[in-house]
Amino acid sequence: MRILQVASEAVPLCKTGGLADVVTALSEALVERGDEVTVLMPAYRGTIARAGATPAFELGDPLGLGHAARVLAAPLDDSGATVHLLQCDALFDRPGGPYGDEAGHDWPDNHLRFALLARAAAQIALASAALGGSIDVVHAHDWQAALATAYLAWWGVGRPATVFTVHNLHFTGRFPQAILPAIGAPSSAWSPADLEFYGEASYLKAGLVHADRVTTVSPTYADEIRTPEGGIGFDGLLRWRGDAVRGVLNGIDTRTWDPASDPALSIPYDAAHPAGKRDARAALQRELGLDPQTSAPIFGVVSRLTWQKGIDLWLGGAPAVLAEGAQLVVLGSGEPGLEQACLSLAAAYPGRVAVRRGYDEALSHRIFAGTDLFGVPSRFEPCGLTQMYAMRYGTPPIVRRTGGLADTVLDDDATYGAGTGFVFELPTVEACTDAMLRAIGAFRDPGRYAALQRRAMGRRHDWTASAGIYRDLYLEAAADRRRVP
Ligand code: ADP
Ligand code: GLC
Repeated sequence: MRILQVASEAVPLCKTGGLADVVTALSEALVERGDEVTVLMPAYRGTIARAGATPAFELGDPLGLGHAARVLAAPLDDSGATVHLLQCDALFDRPGGPYGDEAGHDWPDNHLRFALLARAAAQIALASAALGGSIDVVHAHDWQAALATAYLAWWGVGRPATVFTVHNLHFTGRFPQAILPAIGAPSSAWSPADLEFYGEASYLKAGLVHADRVTTVSPTYADEIRTPEGGIGFDGLLRWRGDAVRGVLNGIDTRTWDPASDPALSIPYDAAHPAGKRDARAALQRELGLDPQTSAPIFGVVSRLTWQKGIDLWLGGAPAVLAEGAQLVVLGSGEPGLEQACLSLAAAYPGRVAVRRGYDEALSHRIFAGTDLFGVPSRFEPCGLTQMYAMRYGTPPIVRRTGGLADTVLDDDATYGAGTGFVFELPTVEACTDAMLRAIGAFRDPGRYAALQRRAMGRRHDWTASAGIYRDLYLEAAADRRRVP
C-alpha cells in the first residue's frame, strides 16, 4: 500500500510531544511490513537543511490566497520512509515553535497554516502522479491535519481512503466561522453535521466527521471519549460514528529507546545485565547535583508541565516521599505556575530535588535510565509514551488509571506481585501519594523490586501488533469509503 501520513510534527525534524514520536515510529513499522510511506509535514525554519531535502514538485497556490507552495523530499530517517516538506516560507519559515512564537502565543494565522498543510495533502493525494503512483490511504493526525479528510470528502471523486487519528481530543483547532471562505470550505461545511462546533469551526471535528475511519491512541481512551465526561462535546458524534471509531494502542520505537544501545548512557544495560543502570543512576545524581545516596529511591518525571499531566498531584505527594528519604527529578516546561512550583520545591530541598526547565532529549534518556521510579500522574492521557520508555529502562512507573496508562501498566499490589508499576484511581493528591509510598515500599524490598523491574523491562512495546491493526484498518477504510453527508 502507498500511505501518506499527514502531521504537524515528526521526529527527528520537529517534536513538541508524543505525536512526533508516533508518526515516525508508525511509518517505520509500516515500511518494515512492506508498505510505502511518505510523511507530509510543514517545512518549518531549518527543517529543509536538517533533512537535506531537495525540490520534488510545485503545488501552485493551493488556497488561492497568494501562498505558493512546493514540496521538497528527503529520507525521513534510515527506515526507508520518505518525508515531504511543505515549503511556504510566508507561513512556515519563522522563529519559535511549530504552533506559536517564542513567548508561546499561537500564530494568528494557524487556521491558514494548517489548512494549507491539509489542502496540500488532498491535492497530492488526488494528483497522485506527483508521487509516481496512486496513494491508497491518507492518514491525518490531530486537528492540524484533519481538514485533509474533509477536503477529500468535499471534492471526493476518485479519492483515496482516509483515516484520522486523535492524539488528544482537547486540542480542537477552533476558529471563527469567518475563516471558512479563506480555507475554501463549501458553504455546506457550516453545519452541526459538518465542522460547526458550538458556534465555531473545529478542524478536529472535520476529521471526526469525514474520515472513513477514526482512531485514537489507546482502547481505554477510545471508550473514555465516547462518554459525556471524556468526550468534551464530541462524544455524541463519536458514538454516532459507531464501529468506525477504534482505539489502537501506540507502540514505541524500540531502537531509539533501548538501554542496551542508547548513546546517552556510558554503560549499556538490559534485564540480564542490569549493572549499567546503577552507573546511570550515580551519573545522574552527579549531573543534577543530587546527594550520592544509593539507598534513596529516585523518582523521575519527564513531561509537559500542564494540568493534563497532573504535575500538581505529584508535587502534592512530594513532601511525604521526601520525608521517606526519596529524591525527585523533574524535566519539563509548560504552565508558568507549575514550573515555578517545581523550582520552589528544588530550592527548598537542595541535593534532594533537581528540576531542569526546558526540553532536553538526551537528558530525558538519562532520566529514564538513572531513576528508580517514574511518575505519569495524568488527569487524562490518550496514550502516554513515557511510562513505556520508563518500563523499557527498568524504571517502574507510577500512573493514574486513565487512557493509555490504564492499558499499559499493571499495579504490582493489585496483581499480588505480578505487576509492572503502580496505578492509582482518583486524580487526588491522597491517591497519588499513596501510590508513591507503595512504590517506595517495593523499592525497599530488593527481591521484589528486581522482579518488578524485570517484568517491566520484559513487556513488549514495539509497533508490530499495532502497525498490523492500522494496516487492516486502511484496507477496511478503502473498502468502505464514507459517503459525504
Ligand atoms: P504528550 O505528547 O501528551 O506530551 P507523551 O507521553 O505521548 O505525552 O509524549 C511526550 C514525549 O515528549 C515523550 O517522548 C517525552 O519523552 C518527551 N518530552 C516531554 N517533555 C520533555 C522534555 N522536557 N525534554 C525532553 N523530552 C520531553
Ligand atoms: C498526545 C497525547 C499522548 C499520546 C501522544 C501520542 O500528545 O497527549 O497521550 O501519547 O499524543 O499519541
